[in-house]
Order: sequence, then structure tokens, then C-alpha cells
Amino acid sequence: MIARIKKNEELTSGYFLVDIEADGIGKDKAGRPALPGQFYMLKVGLSTDPLLRRPLSLHRKLSDDSVRFLYRQAGRGTGIISRLIPGDKLDLLGPLGNGFSIPAGVKHALIVGGGIGVAPLTALADYISDERKDITAAAFIGGRSREYVLGADEFRQKGIETFTATEDGSLPRKGLITHALDDYIREHNRNDACGRSTVCGWVIYSCGPHPMLISVAAIAKKYGIKNYTSMESNMACGIGACMGCVISVLDREHGGSVYKKVCDDGPVFDAEDIIW
Ligand SMILES: Cc1cc2nc3c(=O)[nH]c(=O)nc-3n(C[C@H](O)[C@H](O)[C@H](O)COP(=O)(O)OP(=O)(O)OC[C@H]3O[C@@H](n4cnc5c(N)ncnc54)[C@H](O)[C@@H]3O)c2cc1C
Ligand code: FES
Repeated sequence: MIARIKKNEELTSGYFLVDIEADGIGKDKAGRPALPGQFYMLKVGLSTDPLLRRPLSLHRKLSDDSVRFLYRQAGRGTGIISRLIPGDKLDLLGPLGNGFSIPAGVKHALIVGGGIGVAPLTALADYISDERKDITAAAFIGGRSREYVLGADEFRQKGIETFTATEDGSLPRKGLITHALDDYIREHNRNDACGRSTVCGWVIYSCGPHPMLISVAAIAKKYGIKNYTSMESNMACGIGACMGCVISVLDREHGGSVYKKVCDDGPVFDAEDIIW
């Protein structure tokens, strides 16, 4: 679909928000609303160079005809996107992939993002606060310094208790966000009068740098909490055709491991299935 740039602004050095509009951009081919955790493949520029589309996650659905992306200028493709101005056209595919799922019985969601990994988690927070008022949430956002702790204000505006951590201590607390996550769960982890753990019915959603995801998965396993994680992989087609984006996951049915496509089977996976 050909979409139009509505707004494209630098949020902090090298990180941008872009609003894009097109008829039905916020819905899939079957007319279902785009889900948090789904992504779009953007063709940067209208010529054949660069050839490959670049994946960006749904950051906010503004309406059925307008979506927002949060992106880091990583290289050539995102550099080209950063120079687009209102009225410029862009060809994109999506929404693609599976999105975050909320299993039955979930009462409390822990949303854990590092750096640009916050991009799809804001859409998840929007979804929970708008559509799932039966679920409470807490957010944990880390970055290397104050400027790179993205989206904390949006989470707080939704009434979500939000914890931050920076590597340089420019925002409290100093250190890794996974330490804040571990402390939070430990402080809440008790047995109720019936002997049930108070973290029963909790779920963790994570997106961010690989080492952070590994650490979150280990914390989730330690407390017996389900962890859904959004994975990244270099993508060529984004629609399951090229096998360029595969990762190894446990084969629960036959044992051993099996390849799964991040674009088509993911990008969200049960962290317990991933062979890190
Ligand atoms: C499902 C999915 C959702 C994504 N959502 C977002 C998002 O919401 N916001 C955002 O800023 N980025 C997101 N990314 C990463 C983004 O797609 C890449 O940063 C982008 O494709 C880089 O393109 P480029 O041409 O600017 O950089 P290139 O010149 O292609 O590469 C520049 C640098 O970026 C690295 N890079 C390239 N592709 C990826 C990738 N897929 N993941 C991580 N690093 C990569 C390269 O290794 C290289 O170091 C997502 C990736 C996936 C797979
Ligand atoms: S990017 Fe082609 S199969 Fe996933």
C-alpha cells in the first residue's frame, strides 16, 4: 500500500517518531485491527535502491487510517526514512506477524523494554489500558542514559506504574532494568491464604537487546511466570517466503530444535521455547 508521511520528528538524538497515513493502514487484509507486536515492512524510497524493505513495529495505532512508528536511525534505510517530510509517499506492507498474545487468566502484565525495544510495547500498553481494563500493568524501561529511556512518560500517562534504569545513572536507578524487574517480582512474590503464589496470573512481555531478553527469560523462569518476547532478525521478505529470518526454537512435539520464521511464526515467541 502507498502511504503518506504526516509527521516525522526527531525525538532524541538518532531516534524518530513518524506518523504515516493510508486508507486501512491500521487493519490487516481481513479487516482486523493491527495488534501490538505486529510490524510493517517499509520500502524506503520509491526506486529499487535500497531493494529490501525494512521492518518497523507498530508503535501506536492512531486510527484505522494512521499509525505511528518509533525508529532508531541504524543505517542507510532508516536514514532515508528520517529525511522524509510530510506529504512524501512510502510503500509498505502490513500489519504482519503474530503480535503479543494475552493468555486467559492473566491479571497483571509486566512490560519490559530496553532502548528502541520500547517501540512495540507502547502499542501493547495502549491495548491493555484501552481494551483490557481487567488487567493491571507495570512497566520497566531501561536505556544507556536519560535521553534513551523512551516512552516512560506515555506509560505513566496511562496510569501504569513505571520504573526506569540507566546505565550511567542519569535517571534513577543506576544499572540494568532487569535488576528492577527482579526486585519488583521478589517483593510481590508471596503465598496467599490458599497457598497460591501471588505472581500466579502474571505475564512478562519483553523487547530489547538480546542480553536483556536472555536475562528477562531467566527471571521469568525463576519465578514461574510466562514470558512472551519479541525477537529481531534481519528480514528480506517479511512474509514467510525467503527463510532469511529463521531462529532456532525447541521442538515441543518431537524433541530437539526446529527453525521458526521471525516474520511469520513471530516476531513474538514464548521465551521458554527460544534456544538463546
Ligand atoms: C520485527 C522487527 C521489528 C522491528 N521494529 C523496529 C522498530 O519499531 N524500530 C526500530 O528502530 N527498529 C526496528 N527493527 C529493527 C530495524 O528493522 C532495523 O534497525 C533496520 O532494518 C535497519 O535498517 P537500515 O537500512 O537503517 O540499517 P542497515 O544499513 O541495514 O544496518 C545498520 C545496522 O543495523 C543493524 N540491523 C539491520 N537490520 C536489523 C534488524 N532487523 N534488527 C536489528 N538490527 C538490525 C545492522 O546489523 C547494522 O549494524 C525491527 C526489526 C524487526 C525484525
Ligand atoms: S523475512 Fe523472508 S521468511 Fe522471514
